[in-house]
Amino acid sequence: MDKIASPRLLQIDNVTKTFPGVKALLSVNLEVRRGSVHALLGENGAGKSTLVKIVGGGYLPDPGGSMTFDGAPYAPSSPYDAIIAGVRVVHQELNLLPYLSVAENIFLDSLPRRGPFVDYRKLYSETGLLLSRVGLDLNPASPVELLSVAQMQLVEIAKAISTSCKLLILDEPTASLSSRDAERLFGIVRALRDQGLTTIYISHHLKEIYEIADCLSILRNGEMVTTRPVSGTSIPQIVSAMVGRQLDSEYPVGKTPASRETIMEVRNLRFDGNKYPVSFSLKKGEILGIAGLIGSKRTETVRAIFGADRKKSGEVFIGGKKVDIRSPADAVEAGLSLLTEDRKGQGLVLDMTLANNVTLAAPDKVSRAGVIDMKAERLSARRLSAELDIKTPSVDQLVRNLSGGNQQKVVLAKWLFKDANILIFDEPTRGIDVGAKYEIYLLLWTLLEKGKGILIVSSDLNELMGICHRILVFSDGKITADLERGDFDQERILSYAYQNYID
Ligand SMILES: Nc1ncnc2c1ncn2[C@@H]1O[C@H](COP(=O)(O)OP(=O)(O)OP(=O)(O)O)[C@@H](O)[C@H]1O
Ligand SMILES: [Mg+2]
Repeated sequence: MDKIASPRLLQIDNVTKTFPGVKALLSVNLEVRRGSVHALLGENGAGKSTLVKIVGGGYLPDPGGSMTFDGAPYAPSSPYDAIIAGVRVVHQELNLLPYLSVAENIFLDSLPRRGPFVDYRKLYSETGLLLSRVGLDLNPASPVELLSVAQMQLVEIAKAISTSCKLLILDEPTASLSSRDAERLFGIVRALRDQGLTTIYISHHLKEIYEIADCLSILRNGEMVTTRPVSGTSIPQIVSAMVGRQLDSEYPVGKTPASRETIMEVRNLRFDGNKYPVSFSLKKGEILGIAGLIGSKRTETVRAIFGADRKKSGEVFIGGKKVDIRSPADAVEAGLSLLTEDRKGQGLVLDMTLANNVTLAAPDKVSRAGVIDMKAERLSARRLSAELDIKTPSVDQLVRNLSGGNQQKVVLAKWLFKDANILIFDEPTRGIDVGAKYEIYLLLWTLLEKGKGILIVSSDLNELMGICHRILVFSDGKITADLERGDFDQERILSYAYQNYID
């Protein structure tokens, strides 16, 4: 069936959403065809999550607009209304309860019962069926906290399709997936489409759109710019519609080579769960990338260096001097900063303002006699918001109210404010749109000019090859290659990344 010409499942007419100080959506129209995968694209803060939250009953739109779903007027006033109608949203930040089992999470609102008791046999068998539909081979009784992010994502999808679901909405499902897990997810989305499910798919990875979407719509500053078939639309066309200008290249070309001076050296670092000692050095003015598959212990390594997890043995030298890092506080003292992978869990306090978050790691810089000078704090936050182009009505906005990508920028601002000499970034551009990524790369280069050293873990190999001086490849906890810029080659890096799993 031609997915583009099939009848519409969802129609949105003239929907507007205003938050204090922000017009998140302006008279938005959208038609989603039955049985299609419809991509929703746009820069950070363009209004994508807001729109799907309205469709999912999470937000009420301003008066004036209307929606129809499955042939009937549709105005959900809660997620429950939406679920009853057949609409399920898997949100940008996953919402599973870590201590409960997979099965309990999926059937949280509708645990099968026998008399007053939960019918665990039924619960587990029904969960097993759902898990197989999303291609997951998991024990329904295992607690969610033991799962990988990819598995959690699929559990969310299993949960979504546990009730009769006609429209599945995925808000940046692949932001934290490896390419292999993402491929698997695409396979599942396609299989669900073949079973007649309609999907709205939000992503900043534009290449994915060609793999799974039939149509695409682009939001810019809360306005719907275009809806069109994916085939016949090029990436540069999408990018210029998203950002309203042409981007010449994805990565700014680095101007300066790294110096010869070593700024940090790690010698024979050992930590629990890794068989291999890790040794490498970072130079002043260098961007050193760490590539590897998800689970290759890249994150564990940087956490051990930073003192966030215990190391068993090994030494860290900073500026030639041996430092004893036993806690993150020691690391900060030694001039290190770590931008973590999980912004929700470790990087930000969602119920504090943007300005508070920015100064969180270095309150002394805006304090007098131990008291925070709020004016100074706001000034610094304003400067950094402007530098990073953070989209917010003011620096007094609660971080909770910022869009996902803008929250990630606040994490960056926080560590830039701290002004450490050695910056360790774990997946810094996750969930950040193409235009903003470019700005962040430029910023990294200005940091290098100030003599800093940057260590960056990323699952985006093109990104590492685009911005690094040198790349270390991790394979199951072992450094299998140390490549200079001239030797970067995608296939080569991948084969090193797999090496220690094959041997
Ligand atoms: N609850 C809220 N209160 C105040 N402002 C909000 C709220 N939710 C969203 N906004 C604002 O609405 C705008 C659109 O945000 P939205 O989360 O929809 O963006 P997005 O397109 O999903 O971006 P991203 O790609 O970064 O996830 C942003 O300026 C955001 O700060
Ligand atoms: Mg969003």
